[in-house]
Amino acid sequence: MDILKINNLFAGYDNKRVLNNLSMNIEKNKITAIIGPSGCGKSTLLTTLNLMIEENGGKFTGEILYKDKDILSYEKDYIRRMIGMVFQKPTPFPFSIYKNLVYAPIYYGIKDKKTLNKLVKENLKKVGLFDEINEDLSVPATKLSGGQQQRLCIARALTVEPEILLLDEPCSALDIKNTANIEKMLLEFSKDYTIIIVTHNLAQAKRISDYTAFILDGELIEYAETEKIFTNPKDSRTKEYVEGIYG
Ligand SMILES: Nc1ncnc2c1ncn2[C@@H]1O[C@H](COP(=O)(O)OP(=O)(O)O)[C@@H](O)[C@H]1O
Ligand SMILES: [Mg+2]
Repeated sequence: MDILKINNLFAGYDNKRVLNNLSMNIEKNKITAIIGPSGCGKSTLLTTLNLMIEENGGKFTGEILYKDKDILSYEKDYIRRMIGMVFQKPTPFPFSIYKNLVYAPIYYGIKDKKTLNKLVKENLKKVGLFDEINEDLSVPATKLSGGQQQRLCIARALTVEPEILLLDEPCSALDIKNTANIEKMLLEFSKDYTIIIVTHNLAQAKRISDYTAFILDGELIEYAETEKIFTNPKDSRTKEYVEGIYG
């Protein structure tokens, strides 16, 4: 099932058109990787999908269907909740681990302590942090290592029970071990979530994604099974990019 359908999407900022007539569908419970050179519009695409682009001073036209309904017909809060986002640089709030994780659920109206505690524990476990921090939830989030902070941010995104996770180069500030950790986690997540990951790490796209989209100058050049993109792309520009000739 295609959880998102993107039709003729144009997006950009003030005088700059970034995405140019992009159409693609995103399959539920799969990992879709977005690749392409710096500045081609990958982050713009992600922020369009959860309507954050407006907060960044951008605009879009075209159609985005979430479960076959126009994304603009839902409450914006609901879309932000169902389509969560994690950024390149870990962005924990300067509070305790516990406060980081209850922040969004409280915003969305959950008051019951037991429910909140359960959400915190469950989601810290999902990202492998609960045991690592010896169950001490009072530790300031900023005291965690970079890899732990990024996993905390992923756990935080999960506390509001999203269906789709948008990850914008989530491992680019991490070392190999932490990256491997997150990749393993994402592979497990795909049974419960739909994942769209922007990555400049082609090996990462190859390792974890089911589908790969290659964007160049705001145009979707090719979109297919990851295997196909990396072994037998149709477009010569895709071939050049995945072979590392430019980028
Ligand atoms: N908030 C913004 N305001 C104006 N221009 C922006 C903004 N964000 C990105 N851009 C521009 O849009 C283009 C695409 O950027 P981006 O989507 O971040 O690309 P990528 O993530 O592929 O590197 C770039 O030229 C960038 O400078
Ligand atoms: Mg980017």
